[in-house]
Amino acid sequence: MSSHPTGPVAPRPGSLRAVGPTTPRWPLGPDGIAYGGDYNPEQWPEEVWQQDVELMAQAGVNLVSVGIFSWALLEPREGELDLGWLDRLIELLHAHGIAVDLGTPTASPPAWFFAAHPEARVVTRDGTVLGFGSRGMAGPSSPAYRQAAVRITTALAERYGRHPAVVLWHVHNEYGAPVSEDYSESSAAGFRVWLRERYGSLDALNAAWGTAFWGQRYGEWEHVGVPSVAPSVVNPAQRLDFARFSDHALRECFRAERDAIRAHSDRPVTTNFMATACPSTDLWEWAREVDVVSDDHYLDAADPRGYVGLAMAADLTRSVAGGRPWILMEHSTSAVNWQPRNVAKRPGEMARNALTHLGRGADAVLFFQWRASRSGAEKFHSAMLPHAGTSSRVWREVCELGAEVGRLGEVRGSRVRADAAILWDWESFWAQDLEWRPSVDLGHRERTRAVYDRLWRDGLTVDFAHPEADLSAYPLVVAPASYLLSDVAARNLTAYVEAGGTLVVMCFSGIVDEHDAVHPGGYLAPLVDALGVTVEEFLPLRTGERVRLAWVDGADHVVSDVWADHLVLRGAQVLAHYVDGPAAGGAAVTRHVRGDGTGWYVSTHLTGDGLAAVLHRAYADAGLAASELPDDVEVVVRHGSEADYLVAVNHGEESVAVPAEGTELLSGEQVSGAVKVPAGGVVVVRGRVR
Ligand code: GAL
Repeated sequence: MSSHPTGPVAPRPGSLRAVGPTTPRWPLGPDGIAYGGDYNPEQWPEEVWQQDVELMAQAGVNLVSVGIFSWALLEPREGELDLGWLDRLIELLHAHGIAVDLGTPTASPPAWFFAAHPEARVVTRDGTVLGFGSRGMAGPSSPAYRQAAVRITTALAERYGRHPAVVLWHVHNEYGAPVSEDYSESSAAGFRVWLRERYGSLDALNAAWGTAFWGQRYGEWEHVGVPSVAPSVVNPAQRLDFARFSDHALRECFRAERDAIRAHSDRPVTTNFMATACPSTDLWEWAREVDVVSDDHYLDAADPRGYVGLAMAADLTRSVAGGRPWILMEHSTSAVNWQPRNVAKRPGEMARNALTHLGRGADAVLFFQWRASRSGAEKFHSAMLPHAGTSSRVWREVCELGAEVGRLGEVRGSRVRADAAILWDWESFWAQDLEWRPSVDLGHRERTRAVYDRLWRDGLTVDFAHPEADLSAYPLVVAPASYLLSDVAARNLTAYVEAGGTLVVMCFSGIVDEHDAVHPGGYLAPLVDALGVTVEEFLPLRTGERVRLAWVDGADHVVSDVWADHLVLRGAQVLAHYVDGPAAGGAAVTRHVRGDGTGWYVSTHLTGDGLAAVLHRAYADAGLAASELPDDVEVVVRHGSEADYLVAVNHGEESVAVPAEGTELLSGEQVSGAVKVPAGGVVVVRGRVR
């Protein structure tokens, strides 16, 4: 493993974007690492609850999330509460030493709510009014919904806010899914209020949205609406603002519930994010609102290297948490039920998944859900206690993992230090995802994953960072897809290079400002000082078309596809040029020395060896080196005040020796020089890490 001596530092107050919860109040509750999952016992007769708590003890469960979808049972009729069953449940858990993460049930309002407030139903972009019978998410801007949500939340906070079993609040569920945008009347009204605050005047709004184009100019606030489906493409600046507003409206719902809880409870409040899976929530903003960051992650069963996506989600979660430990709120013991082909996890895979999250900063390992449902939409989703019962592989592995997690208590609170940062900005992604971009083949998600994958294979530990955040702790920063780049961000990146950083920027970055308007001076202009190059014209390639790149140092040609730029050199040195294709003879990869650092620009879509060829050269500038471990082994270190913890996960079929010194905590064995990680196995070594 490689290591960089300094970890991320706190941003300078007032200058750059702050990251993570402002008042971290976790850990509370169970000692050591929390283990458990969503517990929905209202599906079962109470006799089953007794069996549940006994089996929980057997599995090492010490924390469960309850009440997340229970509104209709807690408030069977408007204003009429039935909390008796929840009283009994919480007492039972408490008596068995199991702590409670108490849900507010507001992700799914009851049937009576929608009957009384049909206007609160969500309207989709094409005007469809969403019905009841699923998770009944209401429109976030609906005044009736907000009122009802705060009322039930207050009732729960009053009753359980200081209960000794309750160690955490779980507000709502996965804001942004299954609904992220609402095109109803209440949403339109809320959008106008938000726009008035943002722009102050209609003139400012008209200017920001560029409404002189296609005759969209507004003369009355009342005429400004939500960007519903229209005859052709809707103004991208309007759509981008609506994405911002929609995210803001959900955050307002969260804040209202959080504040209702805080009025009666001193326990930390979270809501479960979906770091890489929910495109509509700007988690840099959300993380500031919670007391502790928590995340749900489900493997993409179609991806044979889904564990790289898992590592990426964990690293992104840790990054939005500002490097602080976080809670893995949900993952699955085996298959999910909502993908086209729900592949079961292989023996040992669940433990590899869980302990990878832990290695990358999670202090809690929780699942959806405790006991498999017999009825309803999720009955084929795996659980800690499967339909097959305790005579099952999954149950045995759940108990084994519980015992292992129990041996890792001392890891809690330790922190990961990253070697490099990848820029990640939800606003930029929202903008890039709109219609009529130069090529449908260039996606921010694919680019980011490709870069992450390369760094993962090279054994480098990665943080994600907002382009306006303090980057000074990272010797290497990669911008795989920064289409929207504010002037503040451009200045930040330039200062980063001047101060000695190595910045690698990839094509279709630095194109527009926060209103989706092209930067004055043209493409890449805001980064010209850092990169010494601008883009005169995009030269996207046809489907399947490939171009060759020749390195000026004589290294082997590499091949790329999808995209090329016509570059204008403004001081940068050419590292590779196009041999053929629409940019033949022109610069393809450049490097620019600025101050004490270097700015690299990659004008095409590189994958595989081509991407490695660029990044490995940039590592040299950054003083980094690729690890010599095999490609399918990942190693991360958590640093504590007393000790370091090396977590090594072997996804391959051969055992491997990883340099380490100390005690392997799962087996208790001493390690001298190297630790053997069996095929498919995980080790956690406390001690000196080489
Ligand atoms: C999550 C959700 C859970 C459950 C799970 C199934 O997104 O929060 O309630 O539906 O997916 O994988």
